[in-house]
Amino acid sequence: MSRAALVTGAASGIGRAIAERLVADGWQVLSVDLETEADGPGEPFAADLTTREGNSKAVDAALERFGGLDAVIPNAGFQHVSPVEEFDEDRWDALVALLLTSPFLLARYAWPALRASGDGRIVVVASVHGLVASPYKAGYVSAKHGVLGLVKTLALEGAPVGIRASAVCPGYVRTALVEQQIADQSRTHGVPEERVLEDVLLAPQALKRLLEPSEVADAVAYLLGPGGALFTGAPLVMDGGWTAR
Ligand SMILES: NC(=O)c1ccc[n+]([C@@H]2O[C@H](COP(=O)([O-])OP(=O)(O)OC[C@H]3O[C@@H](n4cnc5c(N)ncnc54)[C@H](O)[C@@H]3O)[C@@H](O)[C@H]2O)c1
Repeated sequence: MSRAALVTGAASGIGRAIAERLVADGWQVLSVDLETEADGPGEPFAADLTTREGNSKAVDAALERFGGLDAVIPNAGFQHVSPVEEFDEDRWDALVALLLTSPFLLARYAWPALRASGDGRIVVVASVHGLVASPYKAGYVSAKHGVLGLVKTLALEGAPVGIRASAVCPGYVRTALVEQQIADQSRTHGVPEERVLEDVLLAPQALKRLLEPSEVADAVAYLLGPGGALFTGAPLVMDGGWTAR
């Protein structure tokens, strides 16, 4: 029987690429996002994952439709770029809610089903910003560092019951989230938009190119497959050499 996964942020960018890849690999996929399209990959489910109710309804929907869950891929996210003294406090709360609390709630609510699966997997889409910081991203960097701590804890608690938890830490990926940042970064750093990619975003990366969403989906598919069996409690870093310095 095919395995069942819940992917968040599946209407766009990396999440969409992950949902497409898992469907192509024969998974049943619940594709969760704020707004969903009927023609997207997997079965659409609309939820606001900054709320407890949104996370719990998403897990319930997956269990109702598929009768179980073998994998949870918390991926939904957004960025907010601002100096710390001007950092909007509501944006901070929303970043922590979506990037850190939602993965916790999804793991908590899906835990019994993942345990029953016998080979439950949690793969969080974190970021190189879970390992290092950049200025003007206090909320995002803090939440991404936090979620890697959550992954370690889930791995230790999950090991005795057949649940593995890992993460991927990509550098910059060609998605809407990055396209939007180019204008923001241009303003904050005082650099023309056409120079932002090389002079700001890719400056710390040894390999000067963006990842494609499908490359992140490949890594997630690997972690969910037989080759990922001994990956738990640690991130798979795909940062083009960013953290090698
Ligand atoms: N793009 C990058 O360079 C990059 C690099 C490293 C990590 N990431 C991480 O990858 C993940 C996906 O990012 P992306 O680049 O594909 O972004 P994206 O903007 O293309 O997609 C993010 C999705 O999350 C959804 N979302 C936002 N708020 C939500 C909410 N409250 N409830 C439900 N869904 C919500 C959006 O609607 C959107 O479809 C994020 O966690 C991001 O931090 C991205």
